[in-house]
Amino acid sequence: MEFKVKDLSLAEWGRKEIELAEKEMPGLMAIRAEWKAKQPLKGIRITGSLHMTIQTAVLIETLVDLGAQVRWCSCNIFSTQDHAAAAVVVGRNGSPSNPKGVPVFAWKGETLEEYWWCTERALDFSGPEYNSAESAEPKGGASSVNAAAKTVGATQGGGQSRYRGPHQIVDDGGDATLMVHMGYEYDRAGDVPAPKPEDPTDLKELLLCLARIQKETPGRWQKTVPEIRGVTEETTTGVHRLYRMEKEGKLLFTAINVNDSVTKSKFDNIYGCRHSLIDGLNRATDVMIGGKTAVVCGFGEVGKGSAQALRGQGARVIVTEIDPICALQAAMEGYEVKTLEDVVEFADIFITATGNYNVITVDHMKRMKDGAIVGNIGHFDNEIDMAGLAKVPGIQKTNIKPQYDKWTFPDGHRILILAEGRLLNLGCATGHPSFVMSTSFSNQTLAQIELAQHLDKYEKKVYILPKHLDEMVARLHLDHLGVKLTKLRPEQAEYIGVPVEGPYKPSHYRY
Ligand code: NAD
Ligand code: ADE
Repeated sequence: MEFKVKDLSLAEWGRKEIELAEKEMPGLMAIRAEWKAKQPLKGIRITGSLHMTIQTAVLIETLVDLGAQVRWCSCNIFSTQDHAAAAVVVGRNGSPSNPKGVPVFAWKGETLEEYWWCTERALDFSGPEYNSAESAEPKGGASSVNAAAKTVGATQGGGQSRYRGPHQIVDDGGDATLMVHMGYEYDRAGDVPAPKPEDPTDLKELLLCLARIQKETPGRWQKTVPEIRGVTEETTTGVHRLYRMEKEGKLLFTAINVNDSVTKSKFDNIYGCRHSLIDGLNRATDVMIGGKTAVVCGFGEVGKGSAQALRGQGARVIVTEIDPICALQAAMEGYEVKTLEDVVEFADIFITATGNYNVITVDHMKRMKDGAIVGNIGHFDNEIDMAGLAKVPGIQKTNIKPQYDKWTFPDGHRILILAEGRLLNLGCATGHPSFVMSTSFSNQTLAQIELAQHLDKYEKKVYILPKHLDEMVARLHLDHLGVKLTKLRPEQAEYIGVPVEGPYKPSHYRY
């Protein structure tokens, strides 16, 4: 079995945490119980590009239990929990010397070159275990397994004639989808453009990776795309990319927008970030938050959870917004709403949660006070202009510990940056806790089943799951919290015009 993770000896620790997580993920466990015998994902090859955490391990093993063949990479260079990755590779019945789990290509602290290599490996199902019955059992001893993963830049196995890609993708932020779409476009053009000096580093690395693939397995993506049934997308930023591709007529397969299930964005993005923002800040800085002035840029779902968490710690929270509705919401919640320019010189903590870019510019960072803490909880690394910061003449970067750096400006003032401007809750801590990820990943699993079972209902467009499934996901999480639901009586159902068994709200209801 091909894989590349940090250290398989971490698997035992990972397995213990996975077992604890399972207890906190009642939605995924109920889906396993309901669907395992029916094997709705049987024969489906799934590539996942989503933070390789303990919670994701439970998702991966749910997909496997439902019959899928799975390969996985992370969607962020810093977010992998190495013990989770090791446990998934070893599997429930394997050992470090005889791994029997799922091929994972992820470790904490990948370079961008390695990141795209991992994504590409997760998209390649050409190996013998997928091609012949006699090699269905993963092979290899401890010493051979990590070595079996080809080194970055090495020739890929497979070759075009027996090349196999995924049928379905689980994506978070859209990078696996992007790689397939760009690969397909350049396959058709017969050429991958050379990176331009002004391109962001991750785009440069993607182009170099695609050029290598085109040389080694020309036509690979043209073979891949017709077999892809669709993608289920986890996050706001990835969903924006998909709608844009649909609008431009570029979407090559069906997409299910998992983010906008109510039981995803109104839970993970808000309550998940309410938990993990503080976790990341504390683990990295250990600075007292109470009494400080904290600025949250963006008062969408993630911003709402972040502002609440900071206020809960006793910080004075100031919000910045571009949208009058969200600005008014923030004001009604009692937050001051200002521009960054108004507050940049005196605030202590700055958190970006916009999904936009260049929200905190180099000019802002030049004006911040000595010791200001700057972090991002949105998807990419450009909400804070990290590329611009590195170019400031005379600036010095001092690493304090992994994912925590001090940047000293030529005038001597310092700012402290978390996770190099990438999402701090997964770079500096372990992301959202299991219970809230159970709601997100129940939606992911149902969306994957939907693609596998009912593709005929869908075109090459972006869809959200029907409301009855959203309500089902919520229902699966009630008992765990001791929630007692009131039963709607038939005459009441008639009066408000909804079915007794739901859905209880029209699709335009905003919660
Ligand atoms: P959202 O659209 O609900 O909120 C973003 C808000 O930022 C909007 O209200 C928008 O008006 C505002 N905004 C945009 N540009 C701005 C600017 N220049 N200044 C101030 N405000 C601005 O999106 P969301 O669901 O809150 O997600 C935000 C980001 O967080 C996305 O990138 C998403 O993918 C990511 N996300 C991260 C996690 C995590 O665990 N770290 C979880 C969920 C989502
Ligand atoms: N996104 C936020 N938290 C996460 C987690 N714990 N696992 C996977 N994805 C996440």
